[in-house]
Amino acid sequence: MSGNGLTYAMIGGGTGSFIGAVHRMAIALDGSARLVAGAFSSTPERSKESAAALGVDAERSYADVAELVERESARDDAVDFVVIVTPNHVHYEAAKACLEAGFHVVCDKPFTVTSAQARELRELAESKKRLCAVTYNYSGYPMVREAAELVRSGAIGAVRKCFVEYHQGWLSTDLAATGQKQASWRADPAKAGLGGALGDIGTHAEQLLRFVTGLEIESVCADTTSFVPGRVLDDDASVLMRLSGSAKATLTASQICVGEANGFSIRVYGETGGLVWRQETPEQLVRTALDGSKRILSRGIEPLSSRANTASRLPSGHPEGFIEAFANIYRGVVEHIHAERSGSAPGGMAMQLPLAQDGERGVRFVEACVESAKNGAVWVEI
Ligand SMILES: NC(=O)c1ccc[n+]([C@@H]2O[C@H](COP(=O)([O-])OP(=O)(O)OC[C@H]3O[C@@H](n4cnc5c(N)ncnc54)[C@H](O)[C@@H]3O)[C@@H](O)[C@H]2O)c1
Repeated sequence: MSGNGLTYAMIGGGTGSFIGAVHRMAIALDGSARLVAGAFSSTPERSKESAAALGVDAERSYADVAELVERESARDDAVDFVVIVTPNHVHYEAAKACLEAGFHVVCDKPFTVTSAQARELRELAESKKRLCAVTYNYSGYPMVREAAELVRSGAIGAVRKCFVEYHQGWLSTDLAATGQKQASWRADPAKAGLGGALGDIGTHAEQLLRFVTGLEIESVCADTTSFVPGRVLDDDASVLMRLSGSAKATLTASQICVGEANGFSIRVYGETGGLVWRQETPEQLVRTALDGSKRILSRGIEPLSSRANTASRLPSGHPEGFIEAFANIYRGVVEHIHAERSGSAPGGMAMQLPLAQDGERGVRFVEACVESAKNGAVWVEI
């Protein structure tokens, strides 16, 4: 796939940050777009230092979001899309400014701090006819797409019960008190939003569940805890969920599971079979059957759906992982922009892109869980 000369700007993702570099690697993997501009940090000085380190021209290295939007809008060769990879509280103002100016936007999760902000951005993207994608990157894995396809094809029958878990251990102590950058803003409700583990990783779990099953979460009953003394936001959440189609699910999101790195998994059981996928062994999907048998489907070996095959890049035995899955999200972004330019309907990868409405569902999920937990684990509708 050729990039056909697309360019992008980045907001956040400066030196020493985490996920911005992953976005850049994912975009670079397909050579689908070039980074040419940015406001990379919260201070103008550090933004400019980061721009220089990333090889961005000084004249397109901006002090802040406002300057980026104003000066890029005035250029004949303005960027095609803007990637937002700041702490959560900046997403709304940055995405709003970019969409209002007519830029396509790719924003990391959780989409915004409140669902009212998310709704406003979704409506703005719709009215401006701009793409507003949210990087729920786990839905980019080939074997996740295979699982989604198997569920849609009726391979496991009607879905009855799902378990989705995202367990980490890196916040088992008060890491924010040491000044660690990523832990510090995640511990601050003004920057992270209402959810701790719920917002940071629970939203990934919520989206994966919806992506694989095609079902919506109708109501939640949540129990949350802040185990680490002094921590304001939850670091552990257990959520019961009622899904559309009368299926049931449980979701756990926890950042105090000592020794867990990115223990993210989904298990979906239908009337005639089940599917199990684990993020730390992403090349395999286990399929279970009524007779108790288990079959391991491996990327590149078993015949898979075209949906999974188009998300694969390498022959079997050459492991693909996090970056490739992330890159599939960007394939969708680039395909969408090319389709929009040529006046054709988006297809293929673009149809699988998580969008503002998915981001909005994620923020609403967090709000509903927080409300449920605050009121003694009552059921709250989404
Ligand atoms: N999709 C994923 O798998 C994934 C993984 C990690 C983080 N995230 C999300 O990505 C976002 C960033 O997380 P991170 O861990 O990379 O954080 P980080 O603290 O490592 O990086 C944030 C960057 O944003 C910059 N920044 C802060 N305020 C800014 C402003 N007003 N204007 C411009 N830049 C600003 C910081 O200087 C820093 O460079 C968060 O929303 C987080 O939830 C997503």
